[in-house]
Amino acid sequence: MADKKAKDDTTQNMGKSFTLTDNQSGKQYNLPVIEGSTGPDVIDVRRLYADTDHFTYDPGFTSTGSCESKVTFIDGDKGILRYRGFDINDLAEHSDFMGICYLLLYGELPNKDQKKKFVHDVTYHTLLQEQISVFYQGFRRDSHPMAIMCGVVGALSAFYHDSTDINNPRHRMIASYRLIAKMPTIAAYAYKYSIGQPFVYPRNDLKYSENFLHMMYATPCEDYKVNPVLARAMDRILILHADHEQNASTSTVRLAGSSGANPFACIAAGIASLWGPAHGGANEAVLNMLEEIGSKDRIPEFIKRAKDKDDPFRLMGFGHRVYKNYDPRAKVMEHTCHEVLDELGVKDEPLLELAMELERIALEDEYFVAKKLYPNVDFYSGIIFRAMGIPTSMFTVLFAVARTVGWVAQWNEMIEDPSQKIGRPRQLYTGHTKRKYVPLHARV
Ligand code: CMC
Repeated sequence: MADKKAKDDTTQNMGKSFTLTDNQSGKQYNLPVIEGSTGPDVIDVRRLYADTDHFTYDPGFTSTGSCESKVTFIDGDKGILRYRGFDINDLAEHSDFMGICYLLLYGELPNKDQKKKFVHDVTYHTLLQEQISVFYQGFRRDSHPMAIMCGVVGALSAFYHDSTDINNPRHRMIASYRLIAKMPTIAAYAYKYSIGQPFVYPRNDLKYSENFLHMMYATPCEDYKVNPVLARAMDRILILHADHEQNASTSTVRLAGSSGANPFACIAAGIASLWGPAHGGANEAVLNMLEEIGSKDRIPEFIKRAKDKDDPFRLMGFGHRVYKNYDPRAKVMEHTCHEVLDELGVKDEPLLELAMELERIALEDEYFVAKKLYPNVDFYSGIIFRAMGIPTSMFTVLFAVARTVGWVAQWNEMIEDPSQKIGRPRQLYTGHTKRKYVPLHARV
């Protein structure tokens, strides 16, 4: 992670432009077009307001690029996802999660020595300041673990003052390592707290995913051996969720960080945004939906509801803002799901069968075909988590554990970007124009 570095020449204005005509005055404006290394070109509207006195209007940002980034690339039409140029399928098959963390943070795959040092450095940040465990006691036992995550991660800034100077690259690096290292500990503690078991301290002789599963399931009463197939599956799930360019939570982290807020506060903001059912909360919602559907013969009824504009019900785990093709992560997830169920000796898991049938019917339905609605990453992940014994309310927490590295990589990239400014969108105001104040006694 370098200090503010000079912009390189990847972003080029190739001399292309768009001409905008004001039909009233007849004036024409030339808007430069910027080309990235791959993917659609962008129209540079930064001078639009100054030159034309108009803003762009794009609620939901369906046509707006909010930043320049070198971290993750998605081609939604072709179903392609790459971290730092590497295909997600290759990474999920050949790398482990720590290798992905290094790649996302530093832009390159680590060599042996770099990997060893990185794993060592991150691992030695897994322990939480002891007072933080007391902090949990303030939450109700039945708190949603995502509520605990928002609170505890935000509170880290009150405990680790020595890594909150965002202009100091070393502080940023330490904060990034701390967040990646401590997130599984915070998540496992949230689970242990909810079931009334003692917290299990991290074990630095275990790998990242093993350590997480150990903190989730071990108790002080007996030895607990982590199943290596489940640890590998967990690692793969973390890889698949590690980053996804400028989604809602990542954009939230960037926006919070653009004001100069400290990294722990920014990641807590990201966790809050992830919680919603349209985003990371979908994995929990998929399981709830499958349970509500209950049996294959009720699928048509729910498909009908999903298509009904007057019914707020949506097929959870289906559709994506960017993918208009099969989400490449969903395929790996389905494969991992079968692996986990085989390992656990679960035959004919009714929810998996229901999910596969629902997918089959939806993919043949004209509504879903026409709108290009395919299963997304959340469609199968819940079934794997459930088979591993993870309660539904923890599903989105696992997403947050995995996405933390993406958030910090994007946050670092933003701070190092010399063109970075505070994020401050404008609006189309449609409220009252100027009104005269009416004193209380004169109001009707
Ligand atoms: N079920 C039924 N209809 C849907 C669905 C769905 N799951 N998703 C989209 N549509 C329809 C929607 O009603 C709209 O129809 P119309 O054009 O007639 O108004 C059309 O498809 C386009 O949908 P949109 O809401 O305008 O698209 P969006 O890009 O704003 O929303 C989404 C994307 C992911 C929020 C949405 O597809 C959705 O709500 N899916 C279910 C929740 C879910 O699975 N979320 C996880 C996303 S992947 C992981 C992550 O990002 O965290």
